[in-house]
Amino acid sequence: MTATRVALVTGGTGGIGTAICKRLSDAGYKVATNYRNEDKAGRWQAEMKESGYDVFLARGDVSSPDEAAAMVAEVTRQAGPVDILVNNAGITRDGTFHKMTPEQWHEVINTNLNSVFNVTRPVIEGMRERKWGRIIQISSINGQKGQYGQANYAASKAGMHGFTISLAQENARFGITVNTISPGYIGTEMVMAVPEAVREKIVAQIPTGRLGSPEEIAYAVAFFLPDEAAWITGANLSVNGGQYMGW
Ligand code: CAA
Repeated sequence: MTATRVALVTGGTGGIGTAICKRLSDAGYKVATNYRNEDKAGRWQAEMKESGYDVFLARGDVSSPDEAAAMVAEVTRQAGPVDILVNNAGITRDGTFHKMTPEQWHEVINTNLNSVFNVTRPVIEGMRERKWGRIIQISSINGQKGQYGQANYAASKAGMHGFTISLAQENARFGITVNTISPGYIGTEMVMAVPEAVREKIVAQIPTGRLGSPEEIAYAVAFFLPDEAAWITGANLSVNGGQYMGW
C-alpha cells in the first residue's frame, strides 16, 4: 500500500458501522463517517478516542444528494480522497405492506438505497482517475429471502445488490471492485427492536443458534480491501450463520 487509504463508512456510529470503523482503523486505513446528530456523534467520537480510535466526522444525511455531496467534500478535505466506500447506513420501518404508509416506504428507500447513489456518485470519478477503489454495500439477508413485515426494507436491500453488479461491470477496468455483504441477524439495536417473541423465532431458524456479532461483519468488509482481493467483484457474500444459503 502506498499512501494511507481513506475509508468512508456511512452510518459509522451505529452497531455494525462502529465495528467496521474499528476494524478498518486497526488495518491501518484512515477512517471517516457521517453523522446527522451532532451531540450523539460527538459522544461517539469521544468514546472511540478513549478506546484509541481516531475517526473523522463529517455532517450529512445520506438520504439527501446535496448533504451527501457536501459530506464527501468534507471528508476529502479532512482526510483525503475516498479510496474505500462502505455504504452501511440503513434503517427499518417494519410493518405489513397492507398497512404501510408512504412515509415508511420512502424513508427506507431514501436512506438505504437512494443514499447509495448519493454517496457513491461523488466518489466514483476520483476512484476511476486514480485507478483504485473498493465499494461495498452492506445489504441484508432479507434482501435475498424477503421478510414478513419488510417489503420496504427488502426492496431497498435487493436494490443495493443490483447496483453492485452493474457498477462492478462498469468499473472493473479501473481497478475498482464493487461487492455486497448480506448480513443475517446481528445483535444490534436494530435487531433488538424486533419484538422479543418474534426475535426468538428468528434465532431458532439460525443453524449456528445465535445472532451474529458486528465484528463478524467487519471481518467480511476487511476481506474485500487488500490488493489480493482485486479479482473479487460483483459478489454477494452472505454472513448469516447459515440462515439462508442461496447460491
Ligand atoms: N410469517 C407468517 N405470519 C407472520 C409472520 C411470519 N414471519 N410474522 C408475523 N406474522 C403474523 C402474526 O402471527 C400475526 O398473525 P395473527 O394476527 O393471526 O395472530 C400477524 O402476522 C400480525 O400482523 P400485523 O399486520 O397485525 O402486524 P403487527 O403490527 O403485529 O407486526 C411485524 C408485524 C411488524 C411484521 C412484526 O411481526 C415484526 O416486527 N416482525 C419482525 C420483522 C423483522 O424480522 N424485521 C427485521 C428487523 S432487523 C433487520 O432488518 C436487520 C437485518 O437486515 C436482518
